[in-house]
Amino acid sequence: MTALASIRDLTVTYRRDGSDVAALKHVSLDIVAGERLAIIGESGSGKSTLALAIAGLLPASSRVEGRIDWFLPPLGARDRQPSTLAGDYKPLGGRDIGFVFQDPSASLDPVMAVGKQIAEVAYTHLGLTWPQAYAKAKNLLERIRLPDPESALRAFPHQLSGGQKQRVAIAAAIAAGPKLLIADEATSALDTIVQAEIVALIRRLVAEDGMTLLFISHDIALAAALAERIAVFRHGKLVELGETAQIVGAPAQAYTRALLDADIGLDAAPLVGRAGLNA
Ligand SMILES: Nc1ncnc2c1ncn2[C@@H]1O[C@H](COP(=O)(O)OP(=O)(O)O)[C@@H](O)[C@H]1O
Ligand SMILES: [Mg+2]
Repeated sequence: MTALASIRDLTVTYRRDGSDVAALKHVSLDIVAGERLAIIGESGSGKSTLALAIAGLLPASSRVEGRIDWFLPPLGARDRQPSTLAGDYKPLGGRDIGFVFQDPSASLDPVMAVGKQIAEVAYTHLGLTWPQAYAKAKNLLERIRLPDPESALRAFPHQLSGGQKQRVAIAAAIAAGPKLLIADEATSALDTIVQAEIVALIRRLVAEDGMTLLFISHDIALAAALAERIAVFRHGKLVELGETAQIVGAPAQAYTRALLDADIGLDAAPLVGRAGLNA
């Protein structure tokens, strides 16, 4: 198991109305290169804070303690070396981490054609010419299986369904070839069938591009369908971490058991099938 990122003693505090809110408390966690890792927990447990800390997107009102060490192969080298510290918090940029939010409208520009938006990511980060970047955008629209990729290039976000918009947001997130894809409640605003399709899409793209996945959800069933390991958060603390089968089948913590019991009808086997639909 090679770590892609090693999070140590990470504490994040927000300052709000003159008082401090500790959103993450002394979290230590390795993200293994190439794994699909899910973060689950109730609303307010610190999942998004962890995602934002990893991506370097925390608001200026936050205070970060602890560190995140990255082990990315330098260009042209095979050895992995720590390249970023969170102690003096210098996060990686958008090239190495792709981020998908719950609301695709938050990451898509409503007045720009989607082909151009995806192409801009590739153009900015990959040093391509504009025609090359645009060709890459078209290829990505094919890969996310929009019905008519050629005309989708010129479509505006409002012309797409919610599921299609999220597909486009995912295409933009992976356009620069990130090592790590973070999906924070990326399916939570969608109905059940579309959720399963997006989960299947994420699974396929991650496999095709050899990305590491951090899948964040309050929905344990979806997390279990997609992830190899699950980390359970409560009140800003990591309470349990294990293989999906162990977390779902034999959780060590009463809190995890309670989360599972609250997830009506949870049964790991059909769930795994559910995510296999319609990538
Ligand atoms: N920008 C912010 N300013 C102040 N408090 C915040 C901010 N973002 C999140 N919080 C607080 O931090 C805690 C964790 O929130 P969050 O990471 O969004 O949890 P989750 O994603 O699991 O719902 C909550 O108490 C939330 O109210
Ligand atoms: Mg959240």
